[in-house]
Amino acid sequence: MEDAVEIIVVDREGEEHTLEAPTDMNLSLMEVLRLYELPVKATCGGMAMCATCQVYIESEHELPEMGDAEQDMLDEAFFVDDDKSRLGCQIPIKPNLNGLRVTLAPAEEE
Ligand code: FES
Repeated sequence: MEDAVEIIVVDREGEEHTLEAPTDMNLSLMEVLRLYELPVKATCGGMAMCATCQVYIESEHELPEMGDAEQDMLDEAFFVDDDKSRLGCQIPIKPNLNGLRVTLAPAEEE
């Protein structure tokens, strides 16, 4: 696919998935995870209000700075790693994210 990047995702069973994510559709990382049917509930629909899309960023890519809503949500969420946690819905898929590697944070309840 042209205008796409590869994102590597480690799921909650430790299995690695390589996803191809279009950069020209205004998708967030959360939306791409859901397109590939990874177990991300996204209860709030991408409003930074549920943290079910939390991921740990495992690579050195430059990401957009955290907004207040994301910061506030992560302050309240479980399993937060201060150095690595981000909300997938707040990360737009951009060409510079090629090769991004993330791990899904544990689900809060199953
Ligand atoms: S989808 Fe709810 S915080 Fe990201």
